[in-house]
Amino acid sequence: MSAVATQTPAGDTVLSLAGVNKRFGAVQALTDVHLQVGAGEVVALVGDNGAGKSTLVKVISGVYTPDSGTIVFDGREVAPRGPSDAQALGIATVFQDLALCDNLDVVANLFLGQEHLLTGMIDEVSMEKESWRLLRSLSAKIPSVRIPIAALSGGQRQTVAIARSLVGAPKVVMLDEPTAALGVAQTAEVLNLVERLRDQGHGVILVSHNMADVQAVADRIVVLRLGRNTAEFKVEEVTTAELVAAITGASDNVVAERRKRRGGTDE
Ligand SMILES: Nc1ncnc2c1ncn2[C@@H]1O[C@H](COP(=O)(O)OP(=O)(O)OP(=O)(O)O)[C@@H](O)[C@H]1O
Ligand SMILES: [Mg+2]
Repeated sequence: MSAVATQTPAGDTVLSLAGVNKRFGAVQALTDVHLQVGAGEVVALVGDNGAGKSTLVKVISGVYTPDSGTIVFDGREVAPRGPSDAQALGIATVFQDLALCDNLDVVANLFLGQEHLLTGMIDEVSMEKESWRLLRSLSAKIPSVRIPIAALSGGQRQTVAIARSLVGAPKVVMLDEPTAALGVAQTAEVLNLVERLRDQGHGVILVSHNMADVQAVADRIVVLRLGRNTAEFKVEEVTTAELVAAITGASDNVVAERRKRRGGTDE
């Protein structure tokens, strides 16, 4: 088993959503949402509180069933029935709460529910080797794979959670607010990990509130507002002010604003 998703050539679309709707009672959380992610591409998903980012992540990971819409992954339509089903397909998710077991060591956390077996017994040697391989592939700074999660820093925990998502060699990795609880140095480390995921050919969906983080690692930025796609930018073509305007809806016509600023005309 290899953790490197090399089957899809860089740039090809690995995940594509269209017309996704999701309603919770009176709240229309997602309306006609579309999203595309290529191999070796980091797509940042941004938007204000309640914009629908986590709902979209949960639709893709199978936590929620969309009311309508399609999810095409690796060339075929899929309907994941839950996070482990999605991971088996090749769509891994690191949820914001990480869902690690504090009292278990790194190896046990990485393989929880997907233990390596050897003639019916749990194969600790193989899992430990694979743990080091995964962590090395991320250039992760974890002192030992045999210490409990409780003894790790916030950044190290995030690293373990990301490493766990790579068990099974996914093509798409989704990270929901991976730096929200981290300090400056740890944030930089996690952003390095995101770049490494891209270098390995994974498609990455990064949900973040932090515009500096997003602008530091994303290739493309998708803005949701009130559950709808409201703007999309290549990272090198957008300023922080324009991003904030798109997120808050301060300027409903961000494109026109840009043209004005650059001295262009309409068409
Ligand atoms: N399980 C649920 N039941 C009812 N309403 C929900 C549920 N999950 C989300 N919502 C509603 O859907 C909308 C979108 O929520 P979502 O959590 O996707 O936003 P978000 O963009 O992730 O926000 P945040 O930045 O605060 O995490 C909100 O109005 C929220 O209250
Ligand atoms: Mg959220």
